[in-house]
Amino acid sequence: MNIKKPYVICHMLGSVDGRIKQDIWEFRDHHKYFEETAEKIQADAWLVGRVTMEEFSSKKKYLIDAEVDSVPKEDFVADTQAKTYAVVIDPLGKCFWDSNMVSTEYVIEVLTEGVASGYLEHLRKKNVSYIFAGKNDLDLDLVLRKLYLLFNIKTVRIDGGGHVNGSFLNAGLIDEFSLVLAPVADGTIGSPTVFEAQEGYENRRATQFSIKSVERIYDDFLWIRYLVIKEAVKR
Ligand SMILES: NC(=O)c1ccc[n+]([C@@H]2O[C@H](COP(=O)([O-])OP(=O)(O)OC[C@H]3O[C@@H](n4cnc5c(N)ncnc54)[C@H](OP(=O)(O)O)[C@@H]3O)[C@@H](O)[C@H]2O)c1
Repeated sequence: MNIKKPYVICHMLGSVDGRIKQDIWEFRDHHKYFEETAEKIQADAWLVGRVTMEEFSSKKKYLIDAEVDSVPKEDFVADTQAKTYAVVIDPLGKCFWDSNMVSTEYVIEVLTEGVASGYLEHLRKKNVSYIFAGKNDLDLDLVLRKLYLLFNIKTVRIDGGGHVNGSFLNAGLIDEFSLVLAPVADGTIGSPTVFEAQEGYENRRATQFSIKSVERIYDDFLWIRYLVIKEAVKR
């Protein structure tokens, strides 16, 4: 049986040394380099890791009721008019929500069964959709299949950070990589890079790309779009 899942494009703004935190880059309109290019990539959803989503989720302290155990650990598709979505990989439910939207997109939480029942109650109160994709560890292939099946998401743009990108890369689930290469060398040891996949060199190969397009933008930036080569090649 052909199990359907979305086409996956990872989009990032990176320094020439692959770093992604812009704390010392000193760009005046630093959001525009990422966002104006991202908007040109047609997608039904964008997806980020829990750390990145904390910029967009609630800053309030919500208390969850530890006594609640009545909410079943089953997928919940909120009744909305949604056509586009903001998906967060949040295995233990650390993001809280004042509403079920980020900008014009409806939120989908991706959880493991390790999440507290009281947290599910919070999501239901805010009419936030959620899906389960594993008991303790996330099955990212299952995440994609559920996004397609339950929300009709046919193209997803993964917008970072480095850990979420790295885990999709490691699972062989990225089809395209869109890199806005910023004209800076950052050099911060230990700061996240575009792909944070795994320590050491054991049991894996680097992922290889072919170029789809290259464009010079904002004078000194390059927007490079790559296709992932799925079969290993020796150049
Ligand atoms: N330059 C750019 O284009 C760009 C784009 C996006 C973000 N950023 C920056 O990147 C930084 C954040 O990047 P980051 O790499 O530290 O964090 P991240 O990828 O945003 O989030 C990592 C967290 O997501 C969850 N997660 C991700 N993959 C998972 C998996 N396979 N299984 C289980 N949980 C998973 C875990 O949450 P738990 O810890 O809750 O388990 C993990 O700690 C921020 O500074 C942000 O501003 C830059």
